[in-house]
Amino acid sequence: MYSVEELQKIVNTEIKNRAEELKGINPADLYAPIKYSLEIGGKRLRPILLLLSYNLFSNEIEKAIPSAIAIEVFHNFTLLHDDIMDKAEVRRNQPTVHEKFDENSAILSGDAMAFLAYKFLLESKTSQLVDVIDLFSKTAIEVCEGQQYDMDFENRLDVTELEYLEMIRLKTAVLLACSLKAGALLANASGETGDLLYEYGINLGLAFQLQDDLLDSFGDQKTFGKRIGGDILSNKKTYLLINALENATPKVKDELLNWIEKTEFIPENKIKAVKKIYTQLNIKELTQKKVDYYFQKSTQILQKLPIAENKLQPLFVLGNQILKREN
Ligand code: IPE
Ligand code: IPE
Ligand code: MG
Ligand code: MG
Ligand code: MG
Repeated sequence: MYSVEELQKIVNTEIKNRAEELKGINPADLYAPIKYSLEIGGKRLRPILLLLSYNLFSNEIEKAIPSAIAIEVFHNFTLLHDDIMDKAEVRRNQPTVHEKFDENSAILSGDAMAFLAYKFLLESKTSQLVDVIDLFSKTAIEVCEGQQYDMDFENRLDVTELEYLEMIRLKTAVLLACSLKAGALLANASGETGDLLYEYGINLGLAFQLQDDLLDSFGDQKTFGKRIGGDILSNKKTYLLINALENATPKVKDELLNWIEKTEFIPENKIKAVKKIYTQLNIKELTQKKVDYYFQKSTQILQKLPIAENKLQPLFVLGNQILKREN
């Protein structure tokens, strides 16, 4: 059985090697941004989830590594495009790809990464490959759907909590769930077990995105690696904003709406004012409660698996790392 730490090392080494292989390939301007995005780090959560899931059933993890890397490459591709869509300038404490290179590079290198992900997936020569590709393709489309809702919601004021939860299920949770289920598929686990792991991933993913939204407003920029207040500036309908609009007194709600509708402002002033309203309304605590709710739900699902408790330990370890994360 592998520990989270061991798998982190394995994934990092594999990604480093794969990125290294891109050196010197032409056209250099297509491959340099891919190499950059893979080399500037990241938590590698999704490939580790895939390998942890696979390792519940088999010790031959080499067989699952190409798929694990494929999912991480796909995730990084989504970030390249997401950062253009969100006008984000910093990620992992480094300039985003469209800032460091340019927007066209982030689009085209992102496209290439999406197909590179399929190429890596095809390296896993198992009888379950068709099922894995089917799951992966369905997931990729759902991520696009989630991203479209995320964009649509920027221009709406009546987004409900339910709509928000469905949007984050699509844009974020399904990829975590897909990683876990792909691990189970590759190891030939039963369909029922794969489905439970998928459900576990959905709930973990919901907690994860809620936390991401919380850190986006209340995290520490150096640790988080992304600009604090980015969601506030884009009028993202996060759990924080939806609940602030819902819980505010008419006067405070007017103030909040005023900031949302303003087209000219000093960014730092808007961030400061909105965060002040969030604090007055205890939004941080409310969001943390929701994170805890989905995290606990995920733990309960994990305990339903027909797998010995000691074998599940590494997944509990990773879960706790996620719950305590500040980056
Ligand atoms: C960022 O994902 C995008 C979200 C779904 C919130 P991560 O927080 O996993 O990003 P890295 O790969 O660790 O940088
Ligand atoms: C991103 O959500 C989800 C995807 C990339 C599909 P966010 O926009 O919140 O992610 P960050 O905060 O930029 O990492
Ligand atoms: Mg986004
Ligand atoms: Mg973003
Ligand atoms: Mg975010």
